[in-house]
Amino acid sequence: MFSRLPIIAAPMAGGPSTPGLVVAVGEAGALGFLAGGYLTPEELDHRLTEVERGSSASYGVNLFLPSPPTVGSEAVEAYRRRLEPAAHRAGAVLGTAQWDDDDIAAKVDVVCAHRPAAVSFTFDNPPAELCDRVRSETGAAVIATVTSVAEAATAVAADALCVQGAEAGAHRGVWRDDPASPEGGPSTPLLRLLADVGEVSALPLIATGGIMNGAGIQAALDAGAVAAQLGTAFLCCPESGTSSTHRRALLDGRFTQTIVTRAFTGRPARALANRFAREHSADAPAAYPEVHAMTRPWRQTAAAAGDAEVMHLWAGTGWQAVTEQTAADLVARLEHERRTAATPGG
Ligand SMILES: Cc1cc2nc3c(=O)[nH]c(=O)nc-3n(C[C@H](O)[C@H](O)[C@H](O)COP(=O)(O)O)c2cc1C
Repeated sequence: MFSRLPIIAAPMAGGPSTPGLVVAVGEAGALGFLAGGYLTPEELDHRLTEVERGSSASYGVNLFLPSPPTVGSEAVEAYRRRLEPAAHRAGAVLGTAQWDDDDIAAKVDVVCAHRPAAVSFTFDNPPAELCDRVRSETGAAVIATVTSVAEAATAVAADALCVQGAEAGAHRGVWRDDPASPEGGPSTPLLRLLADVGEVSALPLIATGGIMNGAGIQAALDAGAVAAQLGTAFLCCPESGTSSTHRRALLDGRFTQTIVTRAFTGRPARALANRFAREHSADAPAAYPEVHAMTRPWRQTAAAAGDAEVMHLWAGTGWQAVTEQTAADLVARLEHERRTAATPGG
């Protein structure tokens, strides 16, 4: 739908999705995605320009829609009191737990001055006016990220849905984080969710969550998707901006599980089950981005020290299959495996 191959490198905010990765993925025939989350509008503009200068291949860009407040500040302050002793022992500080909208209006303006082939939104339902504006000013297809049948049935203004299964690495895209549920809402494995969403939406579906090889891509296509979006699989490509500590943690076998936790940011996200995740998952309130802002200085201190037990090590359930291939080699391998899996008799 967007590129020669039905393969998309997921937008990965916080470092991994460099312009170099997006360009390399696009040149290899798949669709690279810039991640607009956490960047300033100026940084986003710079990265979009770099991608457009680097390649004429199609690319996508992703933006976070603001999360409405969920739990009150009392729960956040209680979490702060529980974190403080350990943060002090580590020589780190906690930040101010403030809500922000990730500068969404300014970032939409920036995106509308560029020529992406796809613009995806995460964390809420993109309203019709926003979809219309992005479509008319950029010519892009608008993609809404959904995690449930109910969200899919409501996302009618978009041109396609990114269907995120329970296996996915990093934040779950739930529109309303249900504090009563550790996963923030219904958490359905990808292939099941694709089938269920196909019942309520006629939009093209992009499958994401736990896909690490071509057989997984083909299984998603067989389940009704037009393309598969892989995040974790690209984390250790040399072109990606993943920190060396995160790469090592993914590759060296010291972690044996992933966990969905609000401990790092206040929003359910799948990460390697390190000490921070294990010790704080039960206490962490549903308060994104307040908890993100509060824990960030501590996580930054840990990252600077290479401390994998405190950093957020986002990973999907298939992380043990991650490779250090270049983006071009990875895309070529995925497509070769996919074709093999698609051939009757293997
Ligand atoms: C490190 C990391 C950062 C991510 N950042 C974003 C993001 O900024 N926007 C978004 O829509 N999805 C983001 N995701 C989720 C991906 O879009 C996708 O749903 C997920 O990677 C799929 O699962 P997988 O990692 O098992 O392939 C991120 C995933 C990872 C691993």
